[in-house]
Amino acid sequence: MNKYEKEFKFGKLLNYEVEDNVVIIKFKQEKVFMRIINSYMINFFVPLYRKERNSKAVENLKDSHCDFEVENIENGIQISTEKLLVKIYDEFKVDVYDKKGIILCEDYRGEKEHFKRRTADFKLAEAEGHDLKEVFEEKIYISKKMEEEMYFYGLGEKTGHLNKKGYHYVNWNTDDPKPHGETFDRLYKSIPFLICLNKQNAFGIFFDNHFETHFDMGRDNPKYYYFSGADGNLDYYFIYGPSVKNVVEGYTKITGTMPLPQIWTLGYQQCRWSYDTKERLMEIANNFREKGIPCDTLYLDIDYMDGYRVFTWNDERFENPEAMIKRLNSMGFKLVTIIDPGVKVDKGYKIYDEGLKNGYFATDNQGIVYRNEVWPGDSVYPDFLNSNTRKWWAENQKIMTDTGVSGIWNDMNEPASFKGPIPDDVMFDNDGIPVKHKEAHNVYGHMMAKATYEGVKKETGKRPFIVTRACYAGTQKYSTIWTGDNQSTWEHLRMSLPMLMNLGLSGMGFCGTDVGGFGHDCSPELLSRWVQVGTFTPLFRNHSAMGTRDQEPWAFDENTEEINRKYIKLRYKLLPYIYDAMWNCSKSGAPLIRPLLFNYQEDKNTYEINDEFLCGDNILVAPVALQGAKARMIYLPEGETWIDYWTKEEYKGGQNIIKETPLDICPIFIKGGSIIPIGEDQNYVGEKQIDTLKVEVYLCKENTETRYHHYIDDGESFKYQAGEFNDYKIKVANGDKVEMKVKIIDHNYEDKYKKIEFIIYNLNGKSLNVNGEKVNVVDGKAIISNWVG
Ligand code: GLC
Repeated sequence: MNKYEKEFKFGKLLNYEVEDNVVIIKFKQEKVFMRIINSYMINFFVPLYRKERNSKAVENLKDSHCDFEVENIENGIQISTEKLLVKIYDEFKVDVYDKKGIILCEDYRGEKEHFKRRTADFKLAEAEGHDLKEVFEEKIYISKKMEEEMYFYGLGEKTGHLNKKGYHYVNWNTDDPKPHGETFDRLYKSIPFLICLNKQNAFGIFFDNHFETHFDMGRDNPKYYYFSGADGNLDYYFIYGPSVKNVVEGYTKITGTMPLPQIWTLGYQQCRWSYDTKERLMEIANNFREKGIPCDTLYLDIDYMDGYRVFTWNDERFENPEAMIKRLNSMGFKLVTIIDPGVKVDKGYKIYDEGLKNGYFATDNQGIVYRNEVWPGDSVYPDFLNSNTRKWWAENQKIMTDTGVSGIWNDMNEPASFKGPIPDDVMFDNDGIPVKHKEAHNVYGHMMAKATYEGVKKETGKRPFIVTRACYAGTQKYSTIWTGDNQSTWEHLRMSLPMLMNLGLSGMGFCGTDVGGFGHDCSPELLSRWVQVGTFTPLFRNHSAMGTRDQEPWAFDENTEEINRKYIKLRYKLLPYIYDAMWNCSKSGAPLIRPLLFNYQEDKNTYEINDEFLCGDNILVAPVALQGAKARMIYLPEGETWIDYWTKEEYKGGQNIIKETPLDICPIFIKGGSIIPIGEDQNYVGEKQIDTLKVEVYLCKENTETRYHHYIDDGESFKYQAGEFNDYKIKVANGDKVEMKVKIIDHNYEDKYKKIEFIIYNLNGKSLNVNGEKVNVVDGKAIISNWVG
C-alpha cells in the first residue's frame, strides 16, 4: 500500500440531494457530484484537489435536459436514465448497467494486487542502460472488474496493437527520439480516453485529468483494469454506446469535434528537415510540377529561422521570403512553417524582450524566469496557460501570415528540454490560479495550439491549418496532429496503422504519420508501401530528418516515382470523398481512418484487425507493411459484398481472402453499392474550375439500396457556418433496374455543379433511371448535361 492509498477513501454513503441535473452524493469523507449530461453520458466529479474544475479539454459542453430518477436501494442509491442504470454504494463503488439490466462496467471490489517486480539489484540493470519502470505514486485510483470478453481501444497515440488489452500506458507527453517500440509506454500526446467493448456493448471512460495519468488494461492483474492519476481532481465521464460510433460521438460532444479543414490541407504535403535555402525549396517545388506529381503544401522546418529564433527569417538563406512565397503560391503551393515554443534567451530579440517585460514566461518557484535548452540554445518557455501570453502569441502569428505563410506547425511542445526534465515546481500562471509544471505539462502543447489557432484565424479569416506534436484531449478543435519522430522501418509502418486508428477513435480526426519515416534511411520499397497508406490517411505528409537519405517521391528510381505518382493522384481523385468524410467528422467525430469494428461491431472477427482499416464508410484498405510480401490475407467484414477497386471483382463479406500484392498494388475494396464522388486530375486543389459532379457507383450482384451525401463549399472560409454550402443527396437502388435520385438539399453556395457524370461499375446490362428518366449508359458512363441541381 503506498502512502496515498489511505487518503483515497470515500467511506459510507450517507445521503444525496438533487440539484437540476446533478445528484450530489455525500459519503462520510467526500462529496461526489454526479452530473447527468444526457441519457447516456454521466460525469463524476470529486474535488479532491481544488474546488473548481481546471479542464482544458471541455469548453462548451451543454447538458441536454433528460429525465432521470434517483431512489434508495439496498446499501446504496440507484440513478436511472432512459438508457442507463447506475448503482452507487459505500466507498463510491459504481456499477453501470444498460436498461435491460446487463452489466456494462462494474467497480472492482477486491484488493489491489498488482504483480510485483522482482528487483534484486535495480542499479546494476540500470548501469547497462535498461530502462526500469519506476513505481508510480498515484493519488487517484479507480479500478473496474475485467469482464470475460473485453477489448480496449482509444488512448490516442500509443504504441502496440489496436486492442489495448494487457497493456499499461502512461500519459506524460514525452519527446524521446529513440525508435518507438512496444516498450514505449508514453509518447508525445496524452488523451486519457479509453473505449471498452464488453461483449457487444461499448462504453467510454474519459478521465479528464492532466497530471500524469496511467491506464492499465489488465497488465498488472487480469482481474481488473484501472486508471490512476498523480494528483488533481477525480473527474471522469462515462459514455455509453452501445456502439463504438456512439461512444466516439459522445466523447467529441464533450471535448469538441475536429473543425472542417481547408481543402488544400487534404492534398499531398512535402516536408524535410533541411530545405535550408530558398533555392533548395524552389527546386523541390519545380520538381513536383515538372514531374506532374500533385502537391499542395511545402514545409519549412527550423532551418528557415535566424539562429532558431521563432518568428524570424534567416535573410541570407531566405532572402525576401514574401516574394518567394508569392512565387510558390502562383505555382499552386502553400507554405507551412514550423514554430517551436522555446524562445531564445537573447537581449535585443523582440520576442524575448517582450515576453520578459510582460511576464509571459514560466518561472521557477522563486518567480525567476525558468531556462532550459532547445534548438536555439538557452531558452525560455512561454506560459501558454495564461490568456495574456496566448493573446500575445496569437498576435505574433501575424509575423508569419503577413509574409504569406498559410499554416503553422507547432513542434517540441511537450515541452521538450535538452538539459534534463523540467522540474515539477516550475510555475505557470493559469489566469490567477498558479499551477506547477506537473499540472501544466500535459496541456502545454494543447494551449500552444489553441493560441496558434486563434491567432491564425484572426489574421487570415480562414480555417486555420495548425499541426502539433504534443496534445491533450480536445486538441482536435485547434489542430491537426502528427505522430512525431518515427523511423523509416517496416515495423513503424505497421505500428502506424493501429496508432492512427486509435487516434481517430480518440477524437483526432485529422492525423497522420511522417510518410516514409522520419529517422533512419528510407528504402524505395518502404516508401512505395508507405505512400499507399498515406493516400488514405487524413494528413498525407512525407517528412524526414536532416542527414537521412532523401525520400521525396523521385528520390529513388523511376518505378518508385511512378508508384508515388499513381497513389498521390489517387488521393486527389478521392479528395471530394475525403472532404465529405471530414465534413461528417466535424459533425459527429466519426474519423476518416478507422478500424473495421467501427462500422462492423456485430462482426467479432474485426475486433483485432491491426493491418486493415476503413477510409470513411465505403473504402477498405489492406496495405502491405511487410518487406517483400507478394501476397496478403485480407478479412472482409460480414454483411457486405466487397468489390476489388483494381479488378472490380466481387467478394462476399465474412471471409478471409488472399490477394497478390505486386509493389504497385495496395489492396483496396469498395463496399458494394457505394457512391463515391471523385475529383479531377489536378496538380493542386483549385488548379481546375470544376463544373461537373463526377460520381462513381459500385454496383454488385446483390440488390442494394444506398444513400450518400456530397458536400461542397468554398473550401477555405467560415461562410459554411452561415449556411453557404451545398449538400447533394444521392440515392441508388439496384434491383431489376438501377434507379438513382439526386437532389440538392442545402444550396446556399453559389458555385453549383452544372452537370453530373456517373461512372457505373458492374451495371451488368441493366437499364438506368436518374430522377425518374431513362438515361443512356455508354462505356459505363452516364452524363446528364442539362442538370442544374
Ligand atoms: C523534431 C520534430 C521533427 C523536426 C525536428 C526539427 O524532431 O519531431 O519533425 O523535423 O524536430 O525541427
